[in-house]
Amino acid sequence: LRERRFEEALTHFEQASVMDPLNESAQVGANQALRALVPRWHFAMLNDAGRNRAFNRAIRAVVQPTTSLVLDIGAGSGLLAMIAARSGAKRVIACEATKPVAELAEAVVAANGLQQRIRILGQSSLELVVGRDIPHKADLLVTEVFDCGLLGESAIPTIRHARQSLLSEAATIIPRAGRVFAALLDSEQIHRLNHVRAASGFDVQLFNRFSTLRYFPVRLNTWRHRLLTRPQKIFSFDFQYGSLQPAQREIEFLATSSGRAHGVVFWFQLDLTDHITISNSPHNRTTHWMQAVQCFQSPTLVKAGQAIRGIASHDDMSIWFDLRSSCLQ
Ligand SMILES: C[S@@+](CC[C@H](N)C(=O)[O-])C[C@H]1O[C@@H](n2cnc3c(N)ncnc32)[C@H](O)[C@@H]1O
Repeated sequence: LRERRFEEALTHFEQASVMDPLNESAQVGANQALRALVPRWHFAMLNDAGRNRAFNRAIRAVVQPTTSLVLDIGAGSGLLAMIAARSGAKRVIACEATKPVAELAEAVVAANGLQQRIRILGQSSLELVVGRDIPHKADLLVTEVFDCGLLGESAIPTIRHARQSLLSEAATIIPRAGRVFAALLDSEQIHRLNHVRAASGFDVQLFNRFSTLRYFPVRLNTWRHRLLTRPQKIFSFDFQYGSLQPAQREIEFLATSSGRAHGVVFWFQLDLTDHITISNSPHNRTTHWMQAVQCFQSPTLVKAGQAIRGIASHDDMSIWFDLRSSCLQ
C-alpha cells in the first residue's frame, strides 16, 4: 500500500514535470518519491566489486550451452541477468518487484545491447505463472535477495516458491547454501545506537519504547567493541535442497573473556557454488553489507569461562536470539 502511494505520487510529479519542465518542486517531488521507493543501498551494492566478481565467477561456472532459461529474481539494475547473458545464457527472464527499478533495469539492459536475450518483468516472483509470464520452468535461478541478517529480504519465501513453481527439478540455484555465525558482543557504543538513559540531566528512558527488538545493521568495526565469545555457527540453510522451514535450536555461547554483554552480533556466509563463497563477516572490510546486531534490553556482566545458553530462532523473515535471563545475571 505504501509503495502504491509513492508510485501514484511519482506519476503525478512526473506529469507535472512534463507540463512544466522548469517546475523545480515537481522535480524534487519526483525525486523524493523515487527515493522512498528505491533504497540508497543499491549504489553501495552495485559498487561492491567483491560481491559482483563472486557472482560473475559463479554464474560463468554454472551456465552451460544447454542452459535453456535463466531466472533472475530481484533484478535490481539487471546486473545478474546481464552476467548470465554474457556467460552464454540464450534466454534470461528477470523479475523485479519495485516498478521504477524494473523500468530502469529494462533501460540498462537495452543500453548494454542485451534486450534480445533478457526480458525484465516488473512484478514479484511470487506472482509469476509458468506458461503466462515465463514460457517454461527455468533450469538456473540466480538471486541476490539477502540483507545483513540473511533472511530480511524474503530470501526463504522467494526461493521456496521458486523451487515449488518456477524451477525444473534439476535446476541449479545460485546461491546454493548459506550459514549464519554469531558471537556475544560487548559494546557500549553500539548499545547506545538503540537505547538511552539520560540526556542533559533528564531521565529519557521512556524513549526505549522505540528500541529495535530484533536486529539492525551495524558496521561493527566503526564502533569500539569486543567479542566475548568465539563466533559460532547458528543456522545452515540449504537453498538447493533443504526444507527451508522455520526452526529453533538451543545454543550455548562460552565466554572467552569477561565483559558486559550488550547483544549478539551475527553475519552470514553464502555459497554461490560449492567453491565460491561470500560473507559479510567483520573481517571483510570491503563488503557493502554491514553486520546484524540484536541488542539486549539490559546489558549484563559475563565472566570468562561462563556458558550462556539460549534459543536461536528463525522464521521466513528474520533470525533472533533469546538468551536465558538467568544466564545473563
Ligand atoms: C539486493 S537487490 C539485488 C539486485 C541485483 N540482483 C544485484 O545483485 O545487483 C534485491 C532486489 O530484489 C527485489 N526483490 C526482492 N524480492 C523479490 C521477489 N520475490 N521478486 C521480485 N523482486 C524481488 C528488491 O526489490 C531489490 O530490488
